[in-house]
Amino acid sequence: MNISIQDLSHTYDALPAPIEALSSVSLQIPSGQFAALIGPSGCGKSTVLRLLAGLLKPNCGMIYLDDFPPPRAIAQKRVAWMAQSPALLPWKTARDNIELAQRVNPQPRRNSLSSDELLNLVDLADFADVYPFSLSGGMQQRVALARSLALNASVWLMDEPFASLDELTRESLAFEVIRLWHIFRVTVLWVTHNIYESVRLADRIMVMSPRPGHIHADIEVPLSRPRDETSTEFLAIVKQIRAALKAE
Ligand SMILES: Nc1ncnc2c1ncn2[C@@H]1O[C@H](COP(=O)(O)OP(=O)(O)OP(=O)(O)O)[C@@H](O)[C@H]1O
Ligand SMILES: [Mg+2]
Repeated sequence: MNISIQDLSHTYDALPAPIEALSSVSLQIPSGQFAALIGPSGCGKSTVLRLLAGLLKPNCGMIYLDDFPPPRAIAQKRVAWMAQSPALLPWKTARDNIELAQRVNPQPRRNSLSSDELLNLVDLADFADVYPFSLSGGMQQRVALARSLALNASVWLMDEPFASLDELTRESLAFEVIRLWHIFRVTVLWVTHNIYESVRLADRIMVMSPRPGHIHADIEVPLSRPRDETSTEFLAIVKQIRAALKAE
């Protein structure tokens, strides 16, 4: 699914004065691309994702997911949104959390995977009957990932899903996400604060600047996967992003 944003601006009604969160953001993400959005706190990353997920209505500008405005794409369950907190239902087991997502999906595809197959994909086959409080933070995020996969969506909007996890867990989940992205061939927009994570994951990294938020740089990552984080090429892109963040 292609993502297309044209001239998007958004101002929040706030006291004592409105807050201009985004100004004239335009971007195109072709179907199947893994794109990252990086920028300092408060620059408007989550606002872009909330607008794409149809949770907010833009003041100005156009958003299309293929030929659909967000509410239509969401209604067809073609968009999965994942936030920093896994937000699992604590009274349901890992399997039941996933099956709930499957039940609310009004258009299950013919080749939909079962909850056990999804748990297997995120390496939690042995934890199907376990409740969230008995799972580690990384395991809970993997259940949330499986729950997003249960929607069979064509777009994944990921708002710093690993921000609360330690570096080692983030790295291993990044491999997991890339593996799943290869299997499902979805379009991903991944929000992060973490420069290394963005280069580890994405085909392309958009750098946002604040007050009001706009895309300041758009950097290609022409590296094959898996990526060697100590290679000169990897570190050169890290440097390029750091420079773009400083030059805002
Ligand atoms: N519900 C809201 N009401 C009013 N202002 C808001 C609201 N949500 C966000 N803002 C403002 O919009 C701007 C962008 O916020 P947003 O949450 O999109 O930033 P962000 O880049 O995701 O930050 P972070 O990295 O800290 O998550 C900020 O100035 C914030 O104060
Ligand atoms: Mg945010």
